[in-house]
Amino acid sequence: MLVLGIETSCDETAAAVVEDGVRIRSTIVASQAELHQRYGGVVPELASRRHVERLLPVVGLAVEQAGVAWSDLNGIAVTRGPGLVGALAVGMAAAKTLAFVRGLPVVGVNHLEGHLFANAIDHGPLPAPSLALIVSGAHTDLVHIEGPHTYTILGRTRDDAAGEAFDKVARAMGLGYPGGPALDLLGQGGDSTLAPLPVPFAGRGYDFSFSGIKTAALRVLAAHPNPDQTFLAGLAASLQRVVAEALVRKVARAAREYNPAAILLAGGVAANSVLRRRLAHEAETLGVPVQIPPPALCTDNAAMIAACGTTRLAGGATDPWDLTVSADLAL
Ligand code: KG4
Ligand code: ZN
Repeated sequence: MLVLGIETSCDETAAAVVEDGVRIRSTIVASQAELHQRYGGVVPELASRRHVERLLPVVGLAVEQAGVAWSDLNGIAVTRGPGLVGALAVGMAAAKTLAFVRGLPVVGVNHLEGHLFANAIDHGPLPAPSLALIVSGAHTDLVHIEGPHTYTILGRTRDDAAGEAFDKVARAMGLGYPGGPALDLLGQGGDSTLAPLPVPFAGRGYDFSFSGIKTAALRVLAAHPNPDQTFLAGLAASLQRVVAEALVRKVARAAREYNPAAILLAGGVAANSVLRRRLAHEAETLGVPVQIPPPALCTDNAAMIAACGTTRLAGGATDPWDLTVSADLAL
């Protein structure tokens, strides 16, 4: 089964063709990072306009690089939320129009569930029951996967998402937007004990909180008006160490409570080298298999959307033509 995926929830214009939900035939991600860089964050109206300009060429390229004809495709999967409403609407309008013109079924995909399905590529169905940590620029959710498309959110961030905290500190350090990847690189040579940052703790439940640690890191930075490279690398490494520690401690506690078949990592921040290492180490200690997608499948892409949509299309599902987008769609 060949499915075209379309993803436009934020600032990546992406399309991909995935076979049987597991093999990537093509994946194109046109990043808008340079467009939003000067504003230090995504400007929603500019993001929508850029999607309008780029989406059809990106889709055309994905189909061409997959080496398939439109008549070979079995359906279209499109992100319907959560995300920026204008940006989502561009992808949804394109997906429905293409599906109507080509006589294909269309299904809407939850972006967060899409992130989880980055783990299904090359591996097949998501293991269940399992635990998943979804960490992105907008979300930090600890999820219990009970079965196909059945999820319970055990905890979430009460304030900033982990990626948001990274991006805000990185921006103050002059690392541009989005700052997470630059912070990761910078911290690799740094002393992770340099800044006296506490491991953020949001109580004994499974919720997280990263706004306090963000403020603490910004204070450390402000106290050093002329920081040298050693200091900046140390601050980057220290921040990543405590954020990863806060995330992994709760995952470990949930693993002891729920006995999952596997622990899954997903979302843009899953590309972070410190978090990947720390979680893999913890899972090994717990004796639980861990699934972490390759970095390019952690950040927003359309292959994960196609993989997720395939599970519904393969069961004969299709969404109605009045399918809408939703900025705050829940998992
Ligand atoms: O999933 P994603 O691409 O978009 C959302 O759905 O939000 O996640 C983007 C977030 C940004 O905050 C970005 O800085 C962060 O993921 N990110 C990273 C890394 N790569 C992306 N954070 C830390 N280290 C990385 N290597
Ligand atoms: Zn995302």
